[in-house]
Amino acid sequence: MARDRRDIYYWRAKEEGYRSRAAFKLLQINQKFSIIKEGDTVVDLGAAPGGWLEVAKKLSGGKVIGVDLQRISPIEGVETIKGDITSEATINKILKLVGEEGADTVICDAAPNLSGSWNYDHGRSVDLAKSALQCAAKILKPGGNFTVKVFQGDLFKNYLDEVSNNFTYTKSFSPVASRSQSAEIYVVAKNFIKAPVRKGQEFDVEITSEGSNGDGVVKIQDFVIFVKGANKGEKVMIKIKDVKPNFAFADVVTRC
Ligand SMILES: C[S@@+](CC[C@H](N)C(=O)[O-])C[C@H]1O[C@@H](n2cnc3c(N)ncnc32)[C@H](O)[C@@H]1O
Repeated sequence: MARDRRDIYYWRAKEEGYRSRAAFKLLQINQKFSIIKEGDTVVDLGAAPGGWLEVAKKLSGGKVIGVDLQRISPIEGVETIKGDITSEATINKILKLVGEEGADTVICDAAPNLSGSWNYDHGRSVDLAKSALQCAAKILKPGGNFTVKVFQGDLFKNYLDEVSNNFTYTKSFSPVASRSQSAEIYVVAKNFIKAPVRKGQEFDVEITSEGSNGDGVVKIQDFVIFVKGANKGEKVMIKIKDVKPNFAFADVVTRC
């Protein structure tokens, strides 16, 4: 008997009517991290055959979009795109379906075809996960969530840092439904920061107004920065201290 056929999640998927055993990984991820809530717009990258799409639709009941190189056979209430998530043309198609407001959650279970060489497969998986992050950054609304599969290896830590730089919360997680011998791990990130600034960056600015708590306020590309102890009209160099999805805090480094 093949290994899959002895697998409890293989049988549970059959019994519960899911297209793939992978459905249970998303259910377990969501149970722990609540990445999908009722009414959410969800985009699933690398979605065929569609187990995650079935779960996403059940959890959100809202707009659910699946993308894959392969055709996804229809699921009621789910829109699908046949395309490569690394291509600009596919991202534009996703953006059109998602609409101006953006997606609440982007999930990605995409995997490269395995060669059997651990390092090579790891590198290609990280490349794919980077493309998923770039795609998510274009389609997520501020405060949105992102979950992505990566095969573990040397490049994992750097990738995790890259994700952390774009979200206020990031964790890696192995759902019980992942096979014990699998190299896969999921990165779960919450609260997307759609900001043109990052912690530690410095800028020369002129304070344009004052907030209700007396902090100076300046906008960088329409993004609001609260500057502690600065007054309207002051020209200062600021250092970004903390970045939230819709605004940031900064300290004055020098006064001009
Ligand atoms: C493990 S399967 C996903 C299973 C799915 N989560 C489910 O529950 O049914 C990985 C999928 O990633 C897709 N994939 C790999 N590279 C891709 C790419 N560049 N663009 C779109 N899909 C891709 C593959 O075609 C494959 O269907």
